[in-house]
Amino acid sequence: MKSEYDDERFFEEYAKMSRSQEGLSAAGEWHQLKPLFPSLQGKTVLDLGCGYGWHCTFAAKQEAAQVLGIDLSQKMIEEAKKRNPEKQIEYRICGIEEYEYPEHMWDCVVSNLALHYIENIEKIFQNVYRTLKPGGVFIFNIEHPVFTAGVGQDWIYTEAGTPQYWPVDQYFIPGERKTRFLGCDVVKQHHTLTQILMGLLNNGFELEVVEEAKPAEEMMRIPGMKDELRRPMMLLVKANKK
Ligand SMILES: C[S@@+](CC[C@H](N)C(=O)[O-])C[C@H]1O[C@@H](n2cnc3c(N)ncnc32)[C@H](O)[C@@H]1O
Repeated sequence: MKSEYDDERFFEEYAKMSRSQEGLSAAGEWHQLKPLFPSLQGKTVLDLGCGYGWHCTFAAKQEAAQVLGIDLSQKMIEEAKKRNPEKQIEYRICGIEEYEYPEHMWDCVVSNLALHYIENIEKIFQNVYRTLKPGGVFIFNIEHPVFTAGVGQDWIYTEAGTPQYWPVDQYFIPGERKTRFLGCDVVKQHHTLTQILMGLLNNGFELEVVEEAKPAEEMMRIPGMKDELRRPMMLLVKANKK
């Protein structure tokens, strides 16, 4: 398996994003994701698609006992080791699809903006359920089905170049979408809302929170942010293992 994040140009563009430079405080979804976490003190935490490791550091600072961040990209893992090197964190180059998911191992599994790269998301839900301890929690943020459905993941623009509307197309046809992200060709996977939510329920999870990410009030001053109120971009879920 190969990661687009290992492509030199894409990696450089990703490094310019504010969330890459400033961490979680610059991530538009963090004001909604952070309150979903239980106390992590003394807990074991697995981060699927950890990228630079911001959520691993969050867990470490909450005094988690053990944190594992996995990511397919060698470059992202190298960066995580440099930027977020707390001693209780282990980073591993590993695909979300390939990880062994030992039974009853983790108190909390988190995945931020990585599951829309996974074709068979239900298989991951089964694996996460197995690897969680009873009472464990799965918190994830995935690109919203309304955002991923359309063909190019972009607005339809007026002749003057302003966003006219967001096309939702081929909604009930899940699977590969060839998108442009940060000026590069990136393949993502579209899943319907039913696949995501029923995928969790059918595999034993109890849903506690489902939210659609909306920019915080203070972010509305950033140019272009008002457009983020025109369509949902991210779906946040907290699901529990009974
Ligand atoms: C948008 S970044 C998010 C990184 C991090 N979770 C964060 O919120 O800062 C997506 C990450 O998912 C990783 N990724 C994509 N497909 C993956 C896969 N199949 N297995 C593991 N990691 C994957 C990428 O390498 C990248 O680091």
